[in-house]
This record gives sequence, C-alpha cells and structure tokens, in this order.
Amino acid sequence: MTCVWSAALVGVSGVAIEVEVRLSSQLPRVDVVGLPEAAVRESVSRIRGAIASAGWTFPDRRATVNLAPAELRKSGAGLDLPMAIGILGAAGLIGPDRLAGRAFFGELALDGRLRGTRGTLAAVLAMRDAGAREAIIPWTSLRRARHAPGIRILGAPDLKTVVAHLLGEEKLAPADESPDDPAPIEEVPGPCLSEIRGQPLAKRALEIAAAGGHGLLLTGPPGTGKTLLARRLPGLLPPLRGEARLEAFCVLDASGAVAPEAPMSDAPPFRAPHHSASAAGLLGGGHPIRPGEVSLAHHGVLFLDELPEFDRRCLESLREVIEQGVVRIARANLRCELPARFQLVAAANPCPCGFHGTPGRDCRCDDATLARYRRRISGPLLDRIDLGVTVGEVPWSVLRAPDDGPTSEIVRNRVARARERQRRRGGRGSLNAAIPDAQLEELVRATPKALSLLGRAVEGLRLSARSTRRLLRVARTIADLAEADSTDHEAIAEALQLRPTW
Ligand SMILES: Nc1ncnc2c1ncn2[C@@H]1O[C@H](COP(=O)(O)OP(=O)(O)OP(=O)(O)O)[C@@H](O)[C@H]1O
Ligand SMILES: [Mg+2]
Repeated sequence: MTCVWSAALVGVSGVAIEVEVRLSSQLPRVDVVGLPEAAVRESVSRIRGAIASAGWTFPDRRATVNLAPAELRKSGAGLDLPMAIGILGAAGLIGPDRLAGRAFFGELALDGRLRGTRGTLAAVLAMRDAGAREAIIPWTSLRRARHAPGIRILGAPDLKTVVAHLLGEEKLAPADESPDDPAPIEEVPGPCLSEIRGQPLAKRALEIAAAGGHGLLLTGPPGTGKTLLARRLPGLLPPLRGEARLEAFCVLDASGAVAPEAPMSDAPPFRAPHHSASAAGLLGGGHPIRPGEVSLAHHGVLFLDELPEFDRRCLESLREVIEQGVVRIARANLRCELPARFQLVAAANPCPCGFHGTPGRDCRCDDATLARYRRRISGPLLDRIDLGVTVGEVPWSVLRAPDDGPTSEIVRNRVARARERQRRRGGRGSLNAAIPDAQLEELVRATPKALSLLGRAVEGLRLSARSTRRLLRVARTIADLAEADSTDHEAIAEALQLRPTW
C-alpha cells in the first residue's frame, strides 16, 4: 500500500488528508472510498488521461483509493495529483522513501498538465501542520502558496515533471527562486480624502474609525458624499502584515474570487455587497461551502451602503457575526467556521425620501413610513456600531473650492501612530474597538474631569451600559490620535458628539 499526503478544503481552511492506494489482483477498476464528492470521483478519469499522456500504463489491476479521515466529505479537484502519485507509487514507479515528508495538491488536466485550484494556500498550510516539509503544487499556484511560511514549496507544470523530481531526475524550482517570482505588489493609491469637499466632522469620524477599528454609521440626505467617504476608509488603514495578511489571503484564495495566478494586495480588503445580496452571498454557505462577503472582508472593511435596504434577516445574522468574528456553519455531516473579523461601515438616508431632519428641506414621508423605515435597522445591530455622523449638504462655495482638508496619506500616518500606541499598550493586534470590558478602565485612564463629564452625560442622555463602554473606547482612540496617555474630557466630549443615532 502507498500513502501520500495532501489536503482538502473545508470552508476556507485546509484539512490534511492521507491518500492510501492499494492494488489487488482483481478485475481492473478504480474505487475511491472515504466520502469523495463528485469532483473527486471524477478525478479517476483525469488521472487516467494524465498517466497515459505521460507515457505510462495505468495499472491493470483493481485500485482502491482511500481518503482518510473517512468521515470528512472531500470536495475539489486538488486531490487529483496525490491520487495519481499514489497510484504510480502502488504500481512500483515511485518508492515510498521518495514520498516521505512530501505532500501534493493540484488538479490534473487530461494531458497531464497541472492546474491551480482555489484553496491552495490553505491546503499548503494544512500539509505543513501535518508535518510535510515539502509541498508540490501546480506552478501557476506558486504566487499564492509562497505566502505560507515554514514549508518548502515547489511548483511543477505537469505530472511527468513531478515524477521526475521525485525520482531525482529533475529539480523543481522552489517558490522563492521561481522565474515567475512576482515583484513586490505596488501600492495603488486609492482615491484621496482631500477630493471630498467640506464634511470635516465626517472626515474626522472616518479617521477615528480607522485609528481604533470602530464601526461607523454615516447618515444624511442623498448626494452629500456618504459613499465617497466610506470608500476612502481602506486608504487610511495600514497595510496587512503577518498573521492577519495570511488569514485574509487564505480566505480570498479559497473563495475562488481571484484567479490562482493573480497577485494579492497587502491593502486591507474592502467589500461593498449590494443590498440585494442573499444570505449565502453575505454570510457564506453553498455546496461546497464558500465564504461570503463578511469573510472576504476579514481584516478589512465591510461597507453596507443603503443599510436599511438590506434583508432584515441578513442584518440580524450579522449581529452575531460582528460579536463573534466568525460565521459558524453547521450541517448534518459538516461543521465549519469561516473567519469574519471586519470593520463595519454603513451608510443610510435618514428616511425614504432622504431629507428627514435636513435643514431647509421638507421631508415627504408620513409618520408610518418613517417608523417602518427606522425599524429596519434594529437597536441591537446599532448597538454594535461605535461611531455615527450626519453627513449634511455642502454649500456651493465649499463645493467649488480646491481640494479640501488633509490628504489620505497624512491621515494614514496619524492612524498608523495611533495604532502603534494601541499595539504597545495592549499587545499584538489589539485595537481600541475590541478592548474587553474588564480592561476598559485600566486602558482608558480617564482623567477626573473626563469622568465627571461622562457621569453627567450618562445621566442626562440615559446612556446604556453598553453605549457608555462604546463611548469610552472611542474616547480612548481620540486620545491616541492626540498622542495622550490619559483620556481627558475633550476626548469624551468629542466621543459624545460622534455617537450613532438613528
Ligand atoms: N462633499 C463632496 N465633495 C465632492 N463631491 C461630492 C461631495 N458630495 C457629493 N459629491 C459628488 O456627488 C456624487 C454623489 O456622492 P455620493 O454617492 O457619495 O453621495 P451619497 O451621500 O452616498 O448619496 P446617496 O444617499 O444617494 O447614496 C459624488 O460622485 C460626487 O461627485
Ligand atoms: Mg451613496
């Protein structure tokens, strides 16, 4: 019997798979056991084609291919290559010593070429964690897989080359030396914040949101720049690094939304699903399971424009996702967790006609319509958004002025400094938006004057315990932007001004 290591994709994570192949002297046929899905069962036809194209004869005996662990449903075509290697190994072409410490992942074409599939990066990580020292994958996937640390990654064009490598007849180039080695990804400058005229309060809110990772709700009449503002948030955020970058890449790679050979950007993801998005599109699901928009926004920004127009049930499910940072999918025979830790930015008109509460404008909505519209965003969802700002109409004199306010680059530098302070204070990856309740007092370090202002506000505005804590987190970020160790009353006052209202 021959054993070959590989991996299968479940959601966006890889699971190590052991491919066992045994030949027996019965009528020639191939049985694949161990819960293979359609694409895996079809592997056999591709493997036959690939083996024939390479000039070898397919074993003229009964081949049983077992995919372990047996209770896990295996999907995807990445198991083609390990199954082919297993069959060739069982037939005596490749000795078991040649397979030790190696793992394989890739789809085969009928002519033996290797094709990249979605999920290669997650598969390589799973094979590494299972103890493989070398991963052999299609060379078109190298660009993607080379982000996986701690394992030697080799890319091959076809089955024949893989076998030649295993037999020591040919050397495959490792990912970091491959001729196709991609140049470092250039930062494409996004649209600049200074292109937006006026709206100083909204820009400030955007800066605070970027600095502390806070959720932000932009409300206001149509055509005032809400969408423009939200789209500039990614340009204010620092590039992805380390573990966060790898996690975000894994999700994107596993989603199949980008071609395997396309380069990935260090910029945090920005996802803006349309309000007609289905629950599966937004939260993930399907068969096999694919990540939804909330996961594609992992470590980046999820922008929900026209928030009240989203399906109510989707919005309610979103609450739980925001709280837990994952989407949990539970099916009879499959459970998986899709990571979804994102920063939420939402935009909404104040009412269906768009002008409720806008100075100098008449709202045409009747009370019942208004009440219905307001109910579309529930209190509990709103409770999970830290910042809110009304984006008002911009006077013509301001609109026709040249570029206005700080550029995205200036703000990005301020944000980076504020984030560095948070990192030093709270350890790796900790943002003010995620300060646990238990640590709030110790980290916020409110001055006595700040505390007395907060006390008055809590009484006067009847703030709930949760709103009060949110306010303290925002105030902490404001203090960080001011490079202050303690949070003073001015930070509290500004945080009060930027409370979300609906
Ligand atoms: N403050 C601004 N500075 C410069 N241009 C602006 C500003 N506000 C709006 N515009 C112009 O108006 C257009 C519409 O802006 P935007 O889509 O951001 O509005 P909105 O507030 O999202 O409106 P809606 O509520 O209808 O979605 C922009 O493409 C831009 O050309
Ligand atoms: Mg808009």
